[in-house]
Amino acid sequence: MAITFGCLKNGSMEKNELKPQISKIIQDSDLDTVQRMQSICDLLQEQLPTYNWVGFYMAHESEPTLHLWCQAGEPTDHVVIPFGKGICGQVAVSNSNFVVDDVKAQDNYIACSIHVKSEIVIPLFKDGKNVGQIDIDSNTVAAFDQSDERFLEWVNEQVATIL
Ligand code: SME
Repeated sequence: MAITFGCLKNGSMEKNELKPQISKIIQDSDLDTVQRMQSICDLLQEQLPTYNWVGFYMAHESEPTLHLWCQAGEPTDHVVIPFGKGICGQVAVSNSNFVVDDVKAQDNYIACSIHVKSEIVIPLFKDGKNVGQIDIDSNTVAAFDQSDERFLEWVNEQVATIL
């Protein structure tokens, strides 16, 4: 049976091809946890053309705020986000994936760059608890679909093993 990987919809093969490299980063004992998370941000932002900004926001231990632990892409002023505010803050309380095709259509949205058109935020669970999230911004409208949700859920499961 002939399988033409290049024909898979929305570049899902390209994402899945990064999994071995992500596993290698997770297992790299020369790096601490935040350095490994930074390396994953760098890899995704460098290798996936529509992933223009990649970051991990992690929940504070006692206060209802998210804190930016690492990022790849343009620096952002939004290093602390209250629960409930913006797409990220909403995911901190909903525990659900949030895929935004057009950020302009969102009322509760924190703009980090005028170039951003779409966004995906996937909660990160450790022992069943929502402890943070991966946040991706794209300069392309509707850049994310279910293949990104499945891929980023997998990425977060890997990161959970080193938290
Ligand atoms: N747009 C996000 C804020 C984080 S930036 O994208 C880096 C939000 O609305 O929560």
